[in-house]
Amino acid sequence: MRIALFASKPYDRQFFDQANREGEHEIVYIEARLSQQTVQLAEGFPAVCVFVNDLVDAEVLQQLHAGGTSIVALRSAGFNNVDLKTADALGIKVVRVPAYSPYSVAEHTVAMILGLNRQIPRAYNRVRDCNFSLEGLLGFDLHGKTFGLIGTGEIGRVVAKIMSGFGCRIVAYDPYPNQQWAEDSDVQYVELDALLEQSDVISLHCPLTPDTHHMIDAAAVQKMKPGVMLINTSRGAIVETQAVIDALKSSKIGSLGIDVYEEEDKLFFENLSGQVVQDDVFARLLTFPNVLITGHQAFFTKEALQQIAATTLQNLNDILKEGSCKNQLHAS
Ligand code: NAI
Repeated sequence: MRIALFASKPYDRQFFDQANREGEHEIVYIEARLSQQTVQLAEGFPAVCVFVNDLVDAEVLQQLHAGGTSIVALRSAGFNNVDLKTADALGIKVVRVPAYSPYSVAEHTVAMILGLNRQIPRAYNRVRDCNFSLEGLLGFDLHGKTFGLIGTGEIGRVVAKIMSGFGCRIVAYDPYPNQQWAEDSDVQYVELDALLEQSDVISLHCPLTPDTHHMIDAAAVQKMKPGVMLINTSRGAIVETQAVIDALKSSKIGSLGIDVYEEEDKLFFENLSGQVVQDDVFARLLTFPNVLITGHQAFFTKEALQQIAATTLQNLNDILKEGSCKNQLHAS
């Protein structure tokens, strides 16, 4: 099958070429993101392959349909950037990679927790400058602390297991609780408010949906413990950034680790080091010593990229051979 792979980076080419070593598919790597401005590049391709910041809205889908595209293959788990209703109406099949190494994201989440708590980035910079003062580097024992997990799917459950290893008490909120897992893992499901009130560290592992959009707003922050650590490796818009900035300024939030950001599509995955940051909210986040930001890299391990490429091509093969695929998404 001919596939137009949008937002491609050298590492996408490396792992997709490896997964396609038999040459079953003809993959054309396009650096541009899919958008209303670039959709014409997909003309004549039966399939497009997209990532988290490609825009697959109604207009783009209509143009894809007009150009002969019938499959949108997401090389991600999240699919908040696709208008599934319009895709269904147009008969465009949308497939995704629901589970690729949950360890990649879970381990990055824990790296952020440890990096923030023990101030590793600040310590690294100090020591390079021969500044061996410990002032301002005070952390806390994770052992015995309450860890709040919002979303207990593939990634959340791995995070829980790792954090249990540190001796944390784990409380979790999920509208679709997995009781058996909770029992087996010594995790206690609680209501969202109780989680916000009790947790020393809160980590988000739910999808971005209309329900979770700005779930962490000023009212939610108000319920948190003073000095709480908040971690978001899910999707930026689950957190209302301005509310979190206000809480950092008042020290209500003690530290923040984010791998995702509401407006990341204008920033992440590109080298903008020679440019002036135009996003004042993001620029403010960069000024806090107790904020750790990574540019949507939690998924970025060898194992995850191998799995993403293999599953994406398998999804396309399934559609070609069976007309459907277990990783297909539908509206509703
Ligand atoms: P999953 O689908 O296995 O689990 C999501 C869980 O969230 C489910 O248990 C679901 O019931 C729960 N949930 C749904 N609505 C909720 C709500 N309102 N409140 C609390 N929980 C809710 O997904 P998985 O694989 O664990 O991934 C979680 C998220 O992580 C993805 O949706 C994606 O946005 C993000 N992600 C981020 C990556 C990164 O590189 N930073 C890479 C991969 C995923």
